[in-house]
Amino acid sequence: MERPNNSPIYVVAICGSLRSGSSTHAALQIALSGAKDAGAEVELLQLGAYDLVFQGSVANEADYPAGVFKLREKVKRADGILLGSPEYHGSFSGVLKSALDLMGFDEFENKVVGLIGVSGGRMGAANALSMLRTVGTALHAWVVPKDASIPNSSNAFDAEGNLHDAELTARLKAVGQQVTEFAALRNSA
Ligand SMILES: Cc1cc2nc3c(=O)[nH]c(=O)nc-3n(C[C@H](O)[C@H](O)[C@H](O)COP(=O)(O)O)c2cc1C
Repeated sequence: MERPNNSPIYVVAICGSLRSGSSTHAALQIALSGAKDAGAEVELLQLGAYDLVFQGSVANEADYPAGVFKLREKVKRADGILLGSPEYHGSFSGVLKSALDLMGFDEFENKVVGLIGVSGGRMGAANALSMLRTVGTALHAWVVPKDASIPNSSNAFDAEGNLHDAELTARLKAVGQQVTEFAALRNSA
């Protein structure tokens, strides 16, 4: 999958958990492997690495930490974006929302977005996914129909970050693949 200038489609994943050993991180790695198999250049963005602040907490935007601009630049350059979040209190994580609130149309408008949710409980991350879909629409992104939800996160992965469930693995990869394919289609339009 290529851009019009023959460089590969670039897909970033933004991880909405800062926790070491995060299952959202593991799920995004699997989804990114699906994007890579479809020909994308991929990168997982760990929000803890960007020295982020809350939107509006610094009076002048120009005084935001350099990490804010670095994150914006990477997301702006991306053709496709995976958003991954744990289900937190029936929604997606505040960490992810804070990061999204530092960005906007410049980074998301007309981009292809795929959603991945992880939950500790057996009901899955349906609320996180549904709310992220709403946010994607507000940002004028094209959120692909296929998303993936991993329930029972503490028992779902082995020590290497592989899922025990082969169907869920395929579903995660399919989200990454769909984002890559639709980003390529959009770029060629
Ligand atoms: C503040 C907080 C709220 C949570 N709320 C829910 C919830 O509403 N439903 C649920 O199934 N799990 C909930 N969990 C469990 C997380 O979804 C689960 O631990 C998940 O694996 C965390 O993602 P991570 O492994 O990527 O850090 C919550 C955990 C925390 C810390």
